[in-house]
Amino acid sequence: MKITIVGTGYVGLVTGACLAEIGNDVLCLDVDPKKIEVLNNGGIPIHEPGLKEIIDRSRAAGRLQFSTDVEAGVAHGDVQFIAVGTPPSEDGSADLNYVLAAAREIGRHMNGFKIVVDKSTVPVGTAQRVHETIRTELARRGAAYGFSVVSNPEFLKEGAAVEDFMRPDRIVIGVDADETGHRAREAMKRLYAPFNRNHDRTLYMDVRSAEFTKYAANAMLATRISFMNELANLADSVGADIESVRRGIGSDPRIGYHFLYAGTGYGGSCFPKDVRALIQTGAENGHALRILDAVEAVNDAQKHVLIHKIVERFGEDLNGHTFAVWGLAFKPNTDDMREAPSRTLIRGLLERGARVKAYDPVSMDAARVAFAADLDASPDERARLTFVRTEGEALPNADALLIVTEWKAFKSPDFAALRTALKTPIVFDGRNLYEPATMLEQGFEYYAIGRAL
Ligand code: UGA
Repeated sequence: MKITIVGTGYVGLVTGACLAEIGNDVLCLDVDPKKIEVLNNGGIPIHEPGLKEIIDRSRAAGRLQFSTDVEAGVAHGDVQFIAVGTPPSEDGSADLNYVLAAAREIGRHMNGFKIVVDKSTVPVGTAQRVHETIRTELARRGAAYGFSVVSNPEFLKEGAAVEDFMRPDRIVIGVDADETGHRAREAMKRLYAPFNRNHDRTLYMDVRSAEFTKYAANAMLATRISFMNELANLADSVGADIESVRRGIGSDPRIGYHFLYAGTGYGGSCFPKDVRALIQTGAENGHALRILDAVEAVNDAQKHVLIHKIVERFGEDLNGHTFAVWGLAFKPNTDDMREAPSRTLIRGLLERGARVKAYDPVSMDAARVAFAADLDASPDERARLTFVRTEGEALPNADALLIVTEWKAFKSPDFAALRTALKTPIVFDGRNLYEPATMLEQGFEYYAIGRAL
C-alpha cells in the first residue's frame, strides 16, 4: 500500500520503517529540513535497536523515502499517518497545534480519497477535530474528496520499539460506524494483517474509545509503578523486602509480574505527559482523577528517594563529597533524557555542594545537552559535574556509587574491583540490581529501594 507518514520523530520513524519493511511504499514527511537531510544521508536521529538496519534495507529497495515536500508527500499515500508531537501545554493538556497543522496540510493537498490515521497520542475527541480541520480546508478549496479519520494509538516502548511494532500484543483501531469508516477499517485490516501472528490481534472499536485506550494503558502502568514505589518506601520502614513482595503478588495471574519494579520513579516522554494530560481531560470534564493525582505526586517524590537516602547517610551538606553515577537515560536501551530521574538526583547533589562523575553507556551526548539546560543558571554547579567515558572512570575518589538506570552492563560488575576503586565501598542502588546479602558479604554498605536492610 502507499503510505505517507507526517512527522519523522520517534513514533513516525519507527512506524514508517516497519511498514516499509513488510513491503509497503512509504514516504516520511517532516518540516525540519535538517532531520530529513540526516535521514537522506543514511543517518538516523534517534537511538533505537534494529531501526537503522530496517531503514537501510527499505531505502535500498526503494520502499522508503524522506522528504520535506508536503504537497508531493500528501499526494503519495492512500493512508496518511499523523505522527507528530503532542507536547504538554502549560496546564498539562496535550498541545494539538502540530496535529491540527498536519491535518490542515492533508486537507490542503489531498487529491483523492484518503484514510487519515491519528498515531500521535491525542486526547479523546481529537479525531473529530482533525476531521473538522480537513473538512474546512477542503471547503476552502472547493474540493469534495472523501476521507475517514482513524484512531490507531501506538504502544511502542523506547528501546524495544521495532520489536513492539513487528510483534504487537494488540493493534487498536478506532473507526467511525459510517460508510467511509467501513472502508477505512478494511484498509487498516489489510495493512496490519502481516502483524497478526498466530491469531488476530486487532481490536476494532469506536474512535473515542481507541483514543481513550492509549491513555488508560499508560495511566494504569504508571499507577502500578507508583503503587510499588510507595509500598517499597514502607517496606524500608517496616523491614520487609519489596522484591519478595513483588514475587509474592506477581504470581497471582490477576496481578502478573510486569511493571511491578520499585525504583527512582518513572520518566520518559510518555508516562509523565500522558498521566498529566488525562488528569487535565478529567478536570475539563468535571472529573477529578484522584488516583492519578496521587500517582503523579508519588512519582515526583520518588525521584528524590536516593537523595533522601544519601542525605541520611552523609548529612545535608555534601560539600567535599564526590559521587559516581551509573546510568543517566530514563531507562536502558535508549539515549532519551526526558524526565529522567538522574536529572533530579544530580541536581539535588550539586545543589548540596557535591561533585558528580556521571556515566551512561549511550546517552552521554543527550545528557550533556540536558544538563547544560538544567544547570544553565548555575555555572558553579555545572563545574562540579563531570562526564566520564567509562563506568570505571567514574569511581576513583567517589564516596559512593549511585545507580539510576538498569543497563545490562551494570548487572554483574567485578565487585572486588568496584570495592577497591571507590574511596568508600558504598552503593546506593536506585534499581535494585544486586542482592543485599551478597553486597554485605562483598564488604559494601548497600542501600536499595525497599529492601529490608
Ligand atoms: C511507555 C509504555 O510502556 C508503552 O507501551 C507506550 O507505548 C509508551 O510509553 C508511549 O506512550 O509511547 P516508554 O515510555 O518507552 O513506554 O517506557 P517504559 O518501558 O514503559 O518505562 C517507563 C518508565 O517506567 C521508565 O522510567 C521505567 O524505568 C519505569 N518503570 C517501568 C519502573 O520504574 N518500574 C517498572 O516496573 C517498569
